[in-house]
Amino acid sequence: MVELTLPKNSQVTTGKTWPKPAGAKKLTEFRIYRWNPDDGKNPRIDTYYVDREDCGPMVLDGLIYIKNKIDPTLTFRRSCREGVCGSCAMNIGGTNTLACTKGMDEVLVKGVVNIYPLPHMPVVKDLVPDLTNFYAQHASIEPWLQTDTAAPEKEWRQSKDDREKLDGLYECILCACCSTSCPSYWWNGDRYLGPAALLQATRWLKDSRDERTGERLDYLEDPFRLYRCHTIMNCAQACPKSLNPAKAIAEIKKMMVERQI
Ligand code: SF4
Ligand code: SF4
Ligand code: FES
Repeated sequence: MVELTLPKNSQVTTGKTWPKPAGAKKLTEFRIYRWNPDDGKNPRIDTYYVDREDCGPMVLDGLIYIKNKIDPTLTFRRSCREGVCGSCAMNIGGTNTLACTKGMDEVLVKGVVNIYPLPHMPVVKDLVPDLTNFYAQHASIEPWLQTDTAAPEKEWRQSKDDREKLDGLYECILCACCSTSCPSYWWNGDRYLGPAALLQATRWLKDSRDERTGERLDYLEDPFRLYRCHTIMNCAQACPKSLNPAKAIAEIKKMMVERQI
């Protein structure tokens, strides 16, 4: 779990408490990190009240309620609303997770839903982190099938057993919950690839059709890109798709050893 309590000297200030919706009988309080790069002010925590009888049960429903009915300036990413696109990842109740698949009642801390952007990333605005480096790292592992053999007439074939080796890897939605919960990534995110990119790298290393295993391992064989993982396991706890990046990283390290033998 990523505990995100603010230090005493934090520049984050207490912001505005917005009025409760008129006539609402069942309210849930949201405290949300706000920061606008254009107003020159420090970040602040705004307080909102969501009318639960006029709103769906998920945290994302609450954010959409606030944006539509209370404060249209609140900024966050979302797209699919069903845990598939990864864009609504944020820190909710102290844990990195997806707002669309997390029920409000699951994340209450003393009756409040606390929301911050994914930790240790530059913020674009409010709950929107800058994922430029994260995506560049994903691109650096060249996440596509690479072959020397001439392409078959119809399709690259794979046995059922070989296909099953990709289970637990291909499901990654690149939400960044794991990488932004990893202390090694917090401190060395410019050079350590982090659990998400390394899980994706494992997905291609284990693909029976790919013919660039050696080159892929050469790229990862680096004191920072791979070996900054110290098996702290925050990544596996954070993943909203129940994947285990730490295990995938251990498999890469094993492949590194095996190729020396
Ligand atoms: S197991 Fe490795 S990748 Fe996962 S949180 Fe720990 S250091 Fe980061
Ligand atoms: S491994 Fe899990 S937490 Fe990490 S990016 Fe993929 S889906 Fe998100
Ligand atoms: S909106 Fe797509 S994962 Fe939440």
